[in-house]
Amino acid sequence: RILVIDFGSQVSHLICRRVREAGVYCELRSCLLKLDDVTSFHPNGIILSGGPHSVYDKEAPHLSKEIWNHIDEKKLPVFGICYGQQEMCHFLGGKVEPGVKREFGHAELLIREDVAHLSADGTKKIKGRSPIFEGISTERVPVWMSHGDKVTQIPSGFTSIAYTSNTEYAAIEDQTRHFYGVQFHPEVTHTPSGATMIKNFVLKVVGCKGEWNMHDFCQKQIDIIMNKLEDKYVVGAVSGGVDSSVAAALVHKAIGDRFRPFMVDTGLLRKDEAKIVKERLEKHIPGMKLKVLDASGDFYKELSGVMEPEKKRKIIGRLFVEAFEKAVSEMGLPHERCLLLQGTLYPDVIESTSYKGPSSVIKTHHNVGGLPDRMKMEVIEPLRLLFKDEVRALGNELGLPVTSVMRHPFPGPGLGIRIIGEVTKESADTLSLADDIYIEELRKNGHYDKIGQAFAVLLPTVRSVGVMGDHRTYENVCVLRAVTTTDFMTADWYDMPHDVLAKISNRIINEVKGINRVCYDVSSKPPATIEWE
Ligand code: XMP
Repeated sequence: RILVIDFGSQVSHLICRRVREAGVYCELRSCLLKLDDVTSFHPNGIILSGGPHSVYDKEAPHLSKEIWNHIDEKKLPVFGICYGQQEMCHFLGGKVEPGVKREFGHAELLIREDVAHLSADGTKKIKGRSPIFEGISTERVPVWMSHGDKVTQIPSGFTSIAYTSNTEYAAIEDQTRHFYGVQFHPEVTHTPSGATMIKNFVLKVVGCKGEWNMHDFCQKQIDIIMNKLEDKYVVGAVSGGVDSSVAAALVHKAIGDRFRPFMVDTGLLRKDEAKIVKERLEKHIPGMKLKVLDASGDFYKELSGVMEPEKKRKIIGRLFVEAFEKAVSEMGLPHERCLLLQGTLYPDVIESTSYKGPSSVIKTHHNVGGLPDRMKMEVIEPLRLLFKDEVRALGNELGLPVTSVMRHPFPGPGLGIRIIGEVTKESADTLSLADDIYIEELRKNGHYDKIGQAFAVLLPTVRSVGVMGDHRTYENVCVLRAVTTTDFMTADWYDMPHDVLAKISNRIINEVKGINRVCYDVSSKPPATIEWE
């Protein structure tokens, strides 16, 4: 297993992605970690991330001397990336200086093919390239740079293994200690061979087996949950989304009917969603019973007359917590023996545990929150070590159908933030019909899986004139949104073929009473957001 130490780079989580893609388990920890945190993790190797500082800055973060001593003692291989390389050189007696200019963007890395190494059996000196670059087919490798400082003198024991026109020390190694450093960022996709370099480090240098997989993870998690819970109960709200479905399937497999899942029908779900999710999960998770609570009347009542998006979000969040509390109290379970299931994923964990320098930006979370605090219940988060695609793989492992595992995300406030302005039962019914036609056509025409998120939006405050038969109509506008994205932080609008748009528009206008005009949203995020509210 690999410990990735975070010095505040915006892309540290990508290092973890690349290590796990190599089949090796890893975790990201802040650079302020203590020796105990390292020893208790038992890493076989360490990766130091990039970061925004200069090693000479007063507030620059450093690994403690005890940790460096531990690395030495245990002979742990280290791979320093950008700031990580500078930190390593700085500590080991090299020299780091401000570059003449900041280097940001593409650069060409030239791999040295004549680095002296000991042969595998340690008997003779041979010349070749560093093991980090094995399997890369060219000597000139495009890499991504983003740095101000650079290493100008390497510590004793190190040699340059690759260079660029700007630096002799674009990549360095100390083959005796198995220390490696690179000035560029191998973790980003702009460095196409970067994944190979990280894989070489974890498999060839550190010697990890690359056998971490979802099947083993699933079995281990089930054992952990069984042991942790003994005779306890777990309650959890299932939304039908990927995370809550997978978490529910996992916990049910571990503790059977001591897991009490339920679904709150807010009246703001997709068409027939509660019924479909119940049938689907009960079919694929044998023995699980999903209780559906219809709270839609409360939601429509309290949202009546409310126009402002943030106000709507607050009301929906509060009502959700109230419905949740009611559901739990109706179960009559012993409170002290009850845990709350949360579908927290690793990106959220990283967000709260990674190193935040003085200039870091705090991301806004918009999940329906407040549950654990208010419920005063111990929380169980069985997906907290997984990235989204790993959750999907776990869902497959647990036998969930593709329709559950490959679903587009659906926001907690649901149609409530897709009906612009006041939400009523009538507008929710209208929108859910239009949305259903849209999604059905995307699936039928083979576009659903190419899209990150797609949904319809209703503009009840905007009326437009139309003509149907011999009659004038004066009805609502429906907007179709579809985006491609990897992380939902940025997104592009999906280039939908015109014939598919025509089919969808035609069906919506003909089949949904109250809509006489359909528009397609061609805005990217930023500057627009994915949702309309
Ligand atoms: P935006 O609109 O911020 O959306 O570009 C990014 C992602 O977040 C989802 N989203 C929400 N999810 N509660 C949620 O649970 C919310 O209030 C909320 N607002 C946006 C959105 O669907 C997209 O996937």
